Amino acid sequence: MSTFEQVIKNRFNRRTLLGQAAKAIPVASFAAAMRSTAAETDVAGTASASVRDAGSDPRLSFTAIPAASRDGFTVATGYRSDVILRWGDPLFNDSPQFDPATMTAAAQAKQFGYNCDWMDFFPLPGHDVANPRHGLLVVNHEYTNPELMFKNYGGFNNQTREQTDIELMAHGLSVVELMRDSSGRWRYVQGSQYNRRITMRTMFEITGPAAGSPWLRTTTDAEGKLVEGTLNNCAGGISPWGTALSGEENFHQYFSNASALPDGPLKTLHARYGLPNGNGEYPWSRHYSRFDVGKEPNEPNRFGWIVEFDPYDPASRPKKRTALGRIRHEGATIEVARNGRIVAYMGDDERFQHVYKYVSKGTFNAFNRAANSSLLDEGTLYTAKFNDDGSGQWLPLVYGQGPLTTANGFTSQADVLINTRTAARLLGATQMDRPEDIDTNPVNGKVYIALTNNTNRTDRQVDKANPRASNRYGHIIELTEDGGDHTALQFRWEIFLLCGDGKTASHGAFFAGFDPAQVSAIANPDNLAFDNKGNLWISTDGQPGTLRINDGIYAVPTEGPERGFVRQLCSVAIGAEAASLVMNTDDTALFVAVQHPGEGGKWTDTASDSISSFPDGKQPVRPSVVVVSKASGSPVIGS
Ligand code: FEO
Ligand code: CA
Ligand code: CA
Ligand code: CA
Repeated sequence: MSTFEQVIKNRFNRRTLLGQAAKAIPVASFAAAMRSTAAETDVAGTASASVRDAGSDPRLSFTAIPAASRDGFTVATGYRSDVILRWGDPLFNDSPQFDPATMTAAAQAKQFGYNCDWMDFFPLPGHDVANPRHGLLVVNHEYTNPELMFKNYGGFNNQTREQTDIELMAHGLSVVELMRDSSGRWRYVQGSQYNRRITMRTMFEITGPAAGSPWLRTTTDAEGKLVEGTLNNCAGGISPWGTALSGEENFHQYFSNASALPDGPLKTLHARYGLPNGNGEYPWSRHYSRFDVGKEPNEPNRFGWIVEFDPYDPASRPKKRTALGRIRHEGATIEVARNGRIVAYMGDDERFQHVYKYVSKGTFNAFNRAANSSLLDEGTLYTAKFNDDGSGQWLPLVYGQGPLTTANGFTSQADVLINTRTAARLLGATQMDRPEDIDTNPVNGKVYIALTNNTNRTDRQVDKANPRASNRYGHIIELTEDGGDHTALQFRWEIFLLCGDGKTASHGAFFAGFDPAQVSAIANPDNLAFDNKGNLWISTDGQPGTLRINDGIYAVPTEGPERGFVRQLCSVAIGAEAASLVMNTDDTALFVAVQHPGEGGKWTDTASDSISSFPDGKQPVRPSVVVVSKASGSPVIGS
C-alpha cells in the first residue's frame, strides 16, 4: 500500500470516505482507498487475503439482554432509548397534528407515513461531510395496517375511498431532518426545508433499458415513462453520490383480478410475480381501476423496481431504475469497485428466488456529483449461482446471450429486465431461502446475505447454500468476491450463521464456529448493517412465530476471536418487527425502525382486541423510529 493510500485509510473510515473523500481525493485514489478497506494490496497491486484494520478492536462491549416477550422497547444496560418519530407526526409547518379520529388523506400527505422500514442517515449540510449530529433520515413506509389505523375498521369490502386515499398517502418514503442537541437528545425538525413525503401520488420517471417498453404503457401513460407512486418500499441503500435507493418489494398484493386477462405472455408474467387472480391484500381496486389488472393490465409492471432520489433536493423527481431488474426488491447496497464501477447487491424476497448484483458500465466521478446521475441506467445485471463446493458464479442477464432469446419469449433487454425472475431461472441461478437484505462489510470487504426462512424447502431440495429443509429460522451467507473485487464474476461463499436457539440442539444452529451455548437466540434475519469496526448488525422479522420471543436487534463480530458471538441489544414491541437499523456517522446513535407494532390485533372499542400499546401506552399503536444511544454518549458498540 502506498503512503498516500495509508494516509487516506487512516484518516477516513468508510462512511466518511463516502462523503469527505469524494470532494478532496481524485477518483483513482478514492477507488484505491475503498479497496484498502476491502483487501490489502501488495506492491505488485494484487489483492491478498482480506484483513481487518490493524489496531482496531472489533469486540462489542455490551451484555446481551434476555429474550423478551413483553410489550415495549427493551435495551441493554447502559443504553437509553427514545422514540423520535411516530406515524402521523407533522413534518411541515402547515401539517395538522396527528389525530387518528379525524385522519384524512390530506393530513397524512404532510405527516410521517406508516410502517417505517429501511432507513439511512444522510449527513448535513451535504453528503460530503461526516457530521454525526445533524442529518436527514430517509425512511421507507412499506405498507399499511388498516385494522390498526382505523378504529372499528370495516374490512376489505367496506373500505371507504377516503381510507384508501389515506393508505395511498401513508405509503412511500419520508425525508426528515434530525439533530442532536447539546444535551445529547435527538429530535426531528418540523418544517425543515429538506423534509419531504414521497407517496403514491408522487410522479416517478422510468429510466434505463425498459423505459418506454410496450409492457410499461398504460391508459394514463402512453409512452411508458412516467409512473404515479411507489409501493411496498422495503429495504434500500445509499449511493456514494449521496442519493437514496429504495426497493419496491411486495407490489403484487395491491392489485386484484389478474385472472381477467386472456391467456398469453402477460398473464404468464403476472403469475411469475404472484399477481392475485381474485382479490389482493388491499381493496384499492374498488376505488381505482389502475389496481384492477383486468382493466389496466400493464400497471403492475411499473412496480418492482429500485427507485433512486436525491434527499437533499426536495423538488427532485425520483427515478425507477430499470437496469437493476424487476423483482420483489428488498434493497440495493452499493459499493465502488476498485476500477471505479458501481456495484449494487440485491435480493428477491420470496421463497426459492435469487440473489443479484448490478455492475455499472461507467465509473464513479468523485468530483462531479451530477456526472453520476445515470450510472444506474447502463450496466449489467447478474444473478448468483452457489455451487456446493463453496465456489460461485455471477451469471449475466443479457438479452441474446444463452437462453435469453426469442425462443424463450425475450425480444429485447427490456423484456429481460421486466421479467427478471424468468431470466434468472433460465440461467440456472440458485433458488434461495428468501433473500432479504444484503450488506458489505467495510472492514473485510465481504458480502453478507440475509436469508430469512423457507419452510417450503423439502429434504430433496436442500443444497449446501440452503442446507436446511423446512428452514424456519433462516441463515446468513458470507460471500467473498474473487480478489476482493466487487465486479468479479467468481466468488467463494460459506455459511456464517444458521439461526436458531443455540441451546436447543434440534434447531441445528451454527454461529461461525462460536460456542452456541453463549450466544443469543436469533431467527429470521432481515435487515443488515455494519458499524465502523466491521461488526454485523442484524434486525429480525418473525421471531414471535419461530422462537416465541419478540423481534430485536443483534450484533455479531465477523472477525477475531469473537467471530460468531451473537448478542441481542434491543427487543421491540409485541406484534412488531425490528424492521431496520442504521447508525449515524460516528456510531453514537443507532436508529431502529419499529414496524407494525400490534400486528395480529386490531383497534376497536374492545380493549382486549389490541395486543400492543406501543409507543405511548394507548391506541392506536404507532409504527415509530427509536434512537438508541449510550448514556455516556460514546459509540453504541463500545469505545
Ligand atoms: Fe419487506 Fe422482505 O421484507
Ligand atoms: Ca425486509
Ligand atoms: Ca443494510
Ligand atoms: Ca421481512
